[in-house]
Amino acid sequence: MKIKRLIYSAAVALLMAAPATAQTQEYTPSPENIRSRQQFQEDRFGIFIHWGIYSMYAQGEWYLQNYPIDKNEYAKAADAFYPHRFDAKAWVSAIKESGAKYICFTSRHHDSFSMWDTQESDYNIVDATPFGRDVLKELADECHRQGIALHLYYSHIDWARDEYPLGRTGTKVIGRVRTNENWPAYYQFMNNQLTELLTNYGDIRAIWFDGKWDRDEDTIPFDWQLDEQYALIHRLQPGCLIGNNHHDTPNPGEDIQIFERDLPGENSAGLSGQSVSRLPLETCQTMNGMWGYKLVDQNYKTPETLIRYLVSIAGKGANLLLNVGPQANGELPAAAIERMKAMGEWLKANGETVYGTTAGDIPAQEWGVTTRKGDRLFIHIFDHSQKELLLPLGCKVKKAFTYADKKPVKTKKTKDGILLMLNEIPQGTDYIVELITK
Ligand code: GLC
Repeated sequence: MKIKRLIYSAAVALLMAAPATAQTQEYTPSPENIRSRQQFQEDRFGIFIHWGIYSMYAQGEWYLQNYPIDKNEYAKAADAFYPHRFDAKAWVSAIKESGAKYICFTSRHHDSFSMWDTQESDYNIVDATPFGRDVLKELADECHRQGIALHLYYSHIDWARDEYPLGRTGTKVIGRVRTNENWPAYYQFMNNQLTELLTNYGDIRAIWFDGKWDRDEDTIPFDWQLDEQYALIHRLQPGCLIGNNHHDTPNPGEDIQIFERDLPGENSAGLSGQSVSRLPLETCQTMNGMWGYKLVDQNYKTPETLIRYLVSIAGKGANLLLNVGPQANGELPAAAIERMKAMGEWLKANGETVYGTTAGDIPAQEWGVTTRKGDRLFIHIFDHSQKELLLPLGCKVKKAFTYADKKPVKTKKTKDGILLMLNEIPQGTDYIVELITK
């Protein structure tokens, strides 16, 4: 066992033993945490990065479990992983240019491979690959340098580690010894790893958990011991937000609510039937179809679709976490960079109608959505068929004009709301009209 590991284990044991700090129903976020929540809500747009040794197989991040694969054969990819084009500065710059304000990076996915210099397992980017560089350290330093907040994805499940008590996934993986399943050992392992992540990489604005759904078909509910784990995280970094992609209403101790592939309150993908809480909200979505790099998956959404998606999410008062799956050589795919650039250009011109806004006054309409900032109400029109729009608004309008060129727009109060009388048929990705309301 490495020496550093002993020190961590002792430190974690001490932290876990601290009395009366476990998260309970009465969880009260610290002032630092409230500040992080506010920043998070103002950001509105982040980039998700799914990168690991699965990128070498170019079949997405579920490859290990999707076929009957021997985990020891799969692990051989690590010994060939040499992402010579990985450049943290280039990544963070491209992300900044997209207009995104934060990155969520997969520190360890379900396949068990850790993308940092962990002392808890040799199956990591430094010890198991010829590349030997702590990519998380490079990324964290660059994020801090460029003022981009860093969130870390962390898998609650582990398809290759024998200690993890398998749920409904990972069962096809060959080479696991089911008799070695040991939840207390696995739980300690996770807490030791989380302690490393929250100790050695500067400010981490969020831990993004995933995988709890693995045991959602258990007849006796599985106890993930989240309270103590969340308390550990909040003790290590009080400003660190906790999100859990469990597809359920938030548990005590969680600071943000996550939706997968759907706007809050909608459920077209079947993963988001949960009710919408009062916590800051985030929807994660892919640019193509899969999270991890997948060769055959070139079905990228158009820049127009992505921009409208971002605006629609803002219209719900939520953030978009848009995924990019870097290639095995360490580069972001060109198709992704192209879309990120287009989003960045649009945000440069129109960002103030998205960043730091709250949900608009009315729910999404056939023609588009609304966002609000103080007394400014932004009408985002995606529909190109009509010059007159009825806004079911109760408030009074002091002024109305097009956002792009400040040309006055006529309005008329009717019994059903405000009738917007545009000078032209709306055009472009998002035709924005600004209303100053009272
Ligand atoms: C799902 C997938 C996982 C992915 C995550 C991102 O939980 O299992 O592979 O990382 O969604 O939202």
